[in-house]
Amino acid sequence: MNNITTLCFCFASLFIPSLAVDTISANHTIGDGETIVSSGETFELGFFSPGNSTRRYLGIWYNKISKGKVVWVANRVIPITDKSGVLKFDERGVLILVIQNGRVIWSSNTSRQAQNPVAQLLDSGNLVIRNENDRSTENFFWQSFEHPGNTFLPGMKVGSLASGLYVIISSWKSNDDPSPGPYTFEIDEKGLELVVRKNSVLKSRSGPWNGVGFSGLPNVKPNPSLSYAFVSNDREAYLAYDIINSSIPFILVFNQDGVLERLAWIDRLNNWIVYSSAVGDICDNYALCGAYGRCTIGNSPVCGCLNRFVPKKQTEWAREDWSSGCIPRTPLNCQNGDGFIKYYSIKLPESKIWAINRSMTTEECRMKCLNNCSCMAYTNSDKRGNGSGCILWFGDLMDIKQYTEDGQDIYIRMASSEVEKKENNTEQWSSHDESLDLPRFDLAAITNATSNFSFNNLLGKGGFGPVYKVWKLYKEGRSLELIDELKVESCYVSEVLKSIHIGLLCVQHSPEHRPSMSTVVLMLGGDGVLPQPQEPGFFTKRKLIEENKKDLNSTNEVTITTLDGR
Ligand SMILES: *[C@@H]1O[C@H](CO)[C@@H](O)[C@H](O)[C@H]1NC(C)=O
Ligand SMILES: *[C@@H]1O[C@H](CO)[C@@H](O)[C@H](O)[C@H]1NC(C)=O
Ligand SMILES: *[C@@H]1O[C@H](CO)[C@@H](O)[C@H](O)[C@H]1NC(C)=O
Ligand SMILES: *[C@@H]1O[C@H](CO)[C@@H](O)[C@H](O)[C@H]1NC(C)=O
Ligand SMILES: *[C@@H]1O[C@H](CO)[C@@H](O)[C@H](O)[C@H]1NC(C)=O
Ligand SMILES: *[C@@H]1O[C@H](CO)[C@@H](O)[C@H](O)[C@H]1NC(C)=O
Ligand SMILES: *[C@@H]1O[C@H](CO)[C@@H](O)[C@H](O)[C@H]1NC(C)=O
Ligand SMILES: *[C@@H]1O[C@H](CO)[C@@H](O)[C@H](O)[C@H]1NC(C)=O
Ligand SMILES: *[C@@H]1O[C@H](CO)[C@@H](O)[C@H](O)[C@H]1NC(C)=O
Ligand SMILES: *[C@@H]1O[C@H](CO)[C@@H](O)[C@H](O)[C@H]1NC(C)=O
Ligand SMILES: *[C@@H]1O[C@H](CO)[C@@H](O)[C@H](O)[C@H]1NC(C)=O
Repeated sequence: MNNITTLCFCFASLFIPSLAVDTISANHTIGDGETIVSSGETFELGFFSPGNSTRRYLGIWYNKISKGKVVWVANRVIPITDKSGVLKFDERGVLILVIQNGRVIWSSNTSRQAQNPVAQLLDSGNLVIRNENDRSTENFFWQSFEHPGNTFLPGMKVGSLASGLYVIISSWKSNDDPSPGPYTFEIDEKGLELVVRKNSVLKSRSGPWNGVGFSGLPNVKPNPSLSYAFVSNDREAYLAYDIINSSIPFILVFNQDGVLERLAWIDRLNNWIVYSSAVGDICDNYALCGAYGRCTIGNSPVCGCLNRFVPKKQTEWAREDWSSGCIPRTPLNCQNGDGFIKYYSIKLPESKIWAINRSMTTEECRMKCLNNCSCMAYTNSDKRGNGSGCILWFGDLMDIKQYTEDGQDIYIRMASSEVEKKENNTEQWSSHDESLDLPRFDLAAITNATSNFSFNNLLGKGGFGPVYKVWKLYKEGRSLELIDELKVESCYVSEVLKSIHIGLLCVQHSPEHRPSMSTVVLMLGGDGVLPQPQEPGFFTKRKLIEENKKDLNSTNEVTITTLDGR
């Protein structure tokens, strides 16, 4: 061998291993047992069997941190019963998955044809098909991010896209079966809000985006480690999110029960934990309280009529069958002039028809509603600043939920005499002063070992210090750090996080914000989104400052903040 060949040989052997194979080119095939890995080694593509199944699927999963966390599946519906599956391009440049008898069981179904197609697994987890020499995102022929399964990854867009695609997330049937289950997570067809459907029937909704968040998800707020965007205009309407700075990978998975869970990878536990799950509480069951009914967590029963409304069918209502809803106690009389009364802090309702115009002023919005007798309510589409834009509701208002803070205000059509009564101040109560149950605690009686354990450890012993610390860490989205201290086993992590949350609700400064006994029981047993706790009641500002100073030295930062997306 002469020197030059040796040199070339060395180069080749140096470079071959680092030619990280993240692409499949025209004449390249991937058989069962072979994989490709994204350039940053975050994701891997190949064949796998989910859960206890022996059937084979082509999928993408996290490579380094956790084999087995599958984020995408190609042949969701048609599994392979042996190991004969092969992924390759066909002569038209379409990526196909073929089995033994030559049958194509999945394809990338592109309308345009690629000249020199390659499929590349990007480090975001997106499998894309492009022309060999063209890396521009706009020219991708196909991408797995536009055909998701149950996993919503950072960088994906869910909703109706400018390309005309309608992207939804759908649950798996079971751990062993990735074929679509009954639940879907979508943007509603009007492009206004997130909805969860079961077998296509609306189960719950987020309320419309109001410039800051979704009116029905007051816990979802901008935070430092996560940014999410809801884009809605004439061309497209989608939800997307990104991690701003995270050493902890996390993903959103829409589970078999129709609940969007946020999973975080915790190195120390060497496992994914459910950091937050966004199933609603009982009030998030679509239209539970009927038309003009209002659902209030903490009230017993949870359903009531909006103030100035009365049950439509008193006997049904008394039996706690709320589906018939409520009607105005003073009938509307559009011809004689109606008015509007403001209702505070609600999850904005849904109705048969609703319209949005983002360029209208508040006054234009009001006039537009006033001048159409079937317009039942209006509010701003963007609540930032003094509010701008316009949403109008035509027809009965459904699915109203009451909050004590956050939410959004709405103006509801009312007979003029009701408006006068309110303006003359002859009313006994305002629109959001329904009494809440007062709390009584008997922790031992209601909690089982896990929650009892954490309540007592976190909140019971030792006065302010621990409570303040819990509160502070919670506020900073660092509740996980407590788990270290408590030496909780990994399987209890989500339970303990929930207990911490509920515990903080129970010690809020204002007694009327504290959940009632029955609510605590519901909260402990359920998977609902919990309200944000306010500052605990038993430390003074001075104490706060002292504790704050001490805490400046805390170490082992774990920055996870809560996204309670639905
Ligand atoms: C693929 O194989 C065909 C036939 O074997 C050959 O003509 C073609 O040049 C190959 N393409 C690439 C990109 O290697
Ligand atoms: C697999 O089967 C075992 C034994 O039946 C069971 O304990 C386990 O939960 C199953 N795993 C999954 C992912 O279904
Ligand atoms: C392929 O796409 C067309 C339209 O884009 C659609 O009608 C058809 O159902 C798709 N086929 C498969 C197998 O997904
Ligand atoms: C990201 O997080 C690390 C570790 O917490 C921190 O040191 C760094 O300053 C953060 N970067 C930004 C841009 O926030
Ligand atoms: C929205 O409102 C503005 C201002 O009133 C108006 O000029 C515009 O035509 C409206 N757009 C639609 C689609 O109705
Ligand atoms: C009121 O609004 C509804 C819904 O947009 C519309 O169908 C109806 O024609 C309007 N009525 C009048 C009198 O403008
Ligand atoms: C909000 O309204 C107040 C009073 O009308 C006005 O002074 C202020 O400039 C407005 N703010 C914005 C951001 O428009
Ligand atoms: C409200 O007050 C005005 C005058 O202040 C009076 O004319 C009107 O009757 C009052 N309305 C009611 C409903 O009390
Ligand atoms: C809860 O804690 C209390 C006090 O520490 C204890 O008496 C009680 O038995 C515990 N309950 C359970 C279910 O562990
Ligand atoms: C309590 O125990 C039940 C069943 O034993 C379990 O389902 C639940 O998750 C536990 N924790 C709480 C807080 O209820
Ligand atoms: C923080 O820790 C450093 C080093 O351990 C120590 O010197 C300093 O006094 C501590 N500061 C406070 C406010 O406790």
